[in-house]
Amino acid sequence: MSHDHSQFHASLEAHDDQSINPSANPTLAQLVDTRRRNVLKGGLSLAALSFFAGGMGLSLRAHASPLLNFKGVPVQVGSQFDRVLVAEGYSATPFFSWGDPVEAGAPQWNPDASDDWQAQLKQAGDNHDGMDFFAFDGETDRGLLVMNHEYVNPPLHPTNQIDQSKPRPLSEVRKEQAAHGVSVIEVKKAADGQWQRVMDSPYNRRISALTAMRIAGPLAGHELMKTVADPTGHEVRGTLNNCATGVTPWGTFLTCEENWHNYFINRDQVDYAARVSHKRYGLAKEGTSKNYAWETADPRFNATPDTQQDHGGYVNEPHRFGWVVEIDPFDPQAQPIKRTAFGRFSRECAALSLGDDGRMAFYSGDDAKGEYVYKFVPNGRFDAANPKASRDLLDAGTLYAARFDADGSGQWLALVHGQNGLTAANGFASQAELLLNTRAAADHAGATPMDRPEWATVHPTSREVYVALTNNDGRGDKQPTDQANPRPQNLHGQILRFNEQGADPTATTFSWELFLLAGEQKGARDAAGNAVPANLTGTINGDIFSSPDGLAFDRHGRLWIQTDYGDDEPAMQAMGCNQLLCADPSTREVRRFLVGPRGCEVTGLAWSPDGKTMWANIQHPGISYPASDSKTRPRSTTVMISKNDGGVIGS
Ligand code: FEO
Ligand code: CA
Ligand code: CA
Ligand code: CA
Repeated sequence: MSHDHSQFHASLEAHDDQSINPSANPTLAQLVDTRRRNVLKGGLSLAALSFFAGGMGLSLRAHASPLLNFKGVPVQVGSQFDRVLVAEGYSATPFFSWGDPVEAGAPQWNPDASDDWQAQLKQAGDNHDGMDFFAFDGETDRGLLVMNHEYVNPPLHPTNQIDQSKPRPLSEVRKEQAAHGVSVIEVKKAADGQWQRVMDSPYNRRISALTAMRIAGPLAGHELMKTVADPTGHEVRGTLNNCATGVTPWGTFLTCEENWHNYFINRDQVDYAARVSHKRYGLAKEGTSKNYAWETADPRFNATPDTQQDHGGYVNEPHRFGWVVEIDPFDPQAQPIKRTAFGRFSRECAALSLGDDGRMAFYSGDDAKGEYVYKFVPNGRFDAANPKASRDLLDAGTLYAARFDADGSGQWLALVHGQNGLTAANGFASQAELLLNTRAAADHAGATPMDRPEWATVHPTSREVYVALTNNDGRGDKQPTDQANPRPQNLHGQILRFNEQGADPTATTFSWELFLLAGEQKGARDAAGNAVPANLTGTINGDIFSSPDGLAFDRHGRLWIQTDYGDDEPAMQAMGCNQLLCADPSTREVRRFLVGPRGCEVTGLAWSPDGKTMWANIQHPGISYPASDSKTRPRSTTVMISKNDGGVIGS
């Protein structure tokens, strides 16, 4: 979730990324010795250099990158910029917008937003986010595009507002719930080489905050998962705040529940203070829930304990969110499955690393100030000869949190009951309860608090892992700066990368370094001619940007970077509108490929199998994109990008 011009978003922004980590875990600043810090200055450690330099050369290499074969586009600072600007020789066209028909019987979108919630259930949701392409077996010209719909914006309603000061009309709440979740749409390559939607495909599917889904793994059927509506603790309705994604080797989609805490409230102050599973995640405790006040119309979102109802009413409902949800896009009848072995936090993504022997890791960030980087390692292996046997691989495994040590080494801390002090005496009654309170477990194990971990992505051949640390203006006494998070008032963020020991996804140690600090060039001056303050300058070799968020490697090893910042904020004036850039991991050169319309965030990235078509999401544009006439509502939109000469994107 991000920022835009509307008052609604200004109010969301205030709590979206707050620091609620109460732990006093030592940060690297407290561990590192000052002489070494001087050596490490600039974010490039000697240990990391020797580890990463093989075949890559040093950073800031003078010659042009062989991977980036396009001309960069300039920043766009105009307050009325209402287009998608893409590199010369490329085209970007709107492909799939909020309200477009998905399932059979869906009506065409009404520009006055008069579609009701039953219509919305069959139409594209709002705030398109993480996205992946799934090819049909053995086919290169047909597939399923699957994407998240993270949250909703006021233009969803004819009134163009979401008024939390009054009880919410149930019809509006239902429409908002219907506009969350996931879309599955079939796409195919037409004779002219352009991809188009298959409107009558049986695979076209909407999953929303109302869709029944199964709870699997260690929390399935657990006492703390039961509610008055689900006394078994095995089935939950819906998925919330679906941000980034993952793809399994057996062809399923992993959607990740990010800021689910904003949808709940527990008004019992005593219970709240004692309940780590609410407090440590920042649920509201007075007024209304932070997003949309659904609890005023739908009691499921009121998590205040109610002793008159079985299982305390809905006090456990928030426990049923914050998970990885596995969806089989090729089986429209299959129930989505919440995989609780992954742990529970504000999860950004579940980025796969697949070892030669079929063992796996899924990397995740927890996007809040001072939260952690995690990986989940399933116990079993993927067997390509028998993909069906993989169906329950995600229910058993080890969850780890990362500690980034000052010398460029790192440790994966097992969040396993009985290890690392995670005992009943310390408040972790069982592995199930530990997973429910993953943040508290990682606090206790001594993970490193990070600058808002967003997406992770894994290099297609080296398995090197890149993590976007988007920004953090909250570092101070409680969360001092350290080697991995070196700037106070860090408004522009950084990208960190690491190599597992032996390139083994299941390793428990790794080597890490900062790939770049985002921000303006050193020595930059503002419009008035004053030097830009040091906390706003970075180490980018090439085109500047702020607040890395989406990260994705293409098959050729190009690192694509998407940004998410408030483009109307004073510190962002040099950056213009949000954008998509491409980096060469070897030379660290960065080039701007695309700029989105004012007020948007650029997120989600998927490619056709031939790499000649790319889809990217323009989330919450501030002005009337994709219409350029300002006559209709702004709509979150998937854009399709192709090279005019038919070549591979970026080549
Ligand atoms: Fe949904 Fe942290 O972005
Ligand atoms: Ca977002
Ligand atoms: Ca994001
Ligand atoms: Ca973000």
